Amino acid sequence: MSTEAQEWNARYASEERLWSGKVNALLRREIEDMKPGTVLDVGAGEGADAIWLAQQGWQVSAVDISQIAIDRAETAAHKASVNVRWIVADAREVSGEYDLVSAFYPVIQKSSDFFDHVCALVKPGGTLLFVHHMPDPDKPRGHGPDFSKVMSAREVLENLSPKWTVEKYEVIERGANSKHPYDELVRARKLV
Ligand SMILES: C[S@@+](CC[C@H](N)C(=O)[O-])C[C@H]1O[C@@H](n2cnc3c(N)ncnc32)[C@H](O)[C@@H]1O
Repeated sequence: MSTEAQEWNARYASEERLWSGKVNALLRREIEDMKPGTVLDVGAGEGADAIWLAQQGWQVSAVDISQIAIDRAETAAHKASVNVRWIVADAREVSGEYDLVSAFYPVIQKSSDFFDHVCALVKPGGTLLFVHHMPDPDKPRGHGPDFSKVMSAREVLENLSPKWTVEKYEVIERGANSKHPYDELVRARKLV
């Protein structure tokens, strides 16, 4: 098992549940005007978003490097009686092309071919939906990703090739009490 997988498993094992178990409100909003098709959830965690997508009629694949996270996701999907193709793997190992690749708070290392691989998973004409916390250079890193190593949404925007058209870039306020006061969203379509 890779060090990354071990670290994420250890993080999941340290708590009974790591995330809210609820669909992300931004996913709910962005999906409203899309016709259901195939979707890959990258870094699906405990599966709330993937399960909700399946309930909306999407044909869902969901990948996470943590076996513990996917075990929890599978249990939740079973309870909700929905069908999702759960994949325990590094997202760099996933193949195929999807109408939508959805990545919420993913861990995509900079200066690797990881991002190119994620882009290649989107069908021509398909959509990449990427949401992450907004890096705050004034705050020392506490809870949350190390944006000196992990791609932010702004960096996604800057690294999209001319094959893409950016439909939306948005900063979303999460509230002053949140550990991460702002999120950033990129929605981009791959040209046919
Ligand atoms: C911050 S969590 C986000 C979980 C979920 N998307 C959500 O919004 O609740 C990041 C997730 O990415 C997974 N992960 C980290 N590196 C990965 C990789 N290389 N391939 C696939 N999943 C990965 C972790 O196990 C973790 O579940």
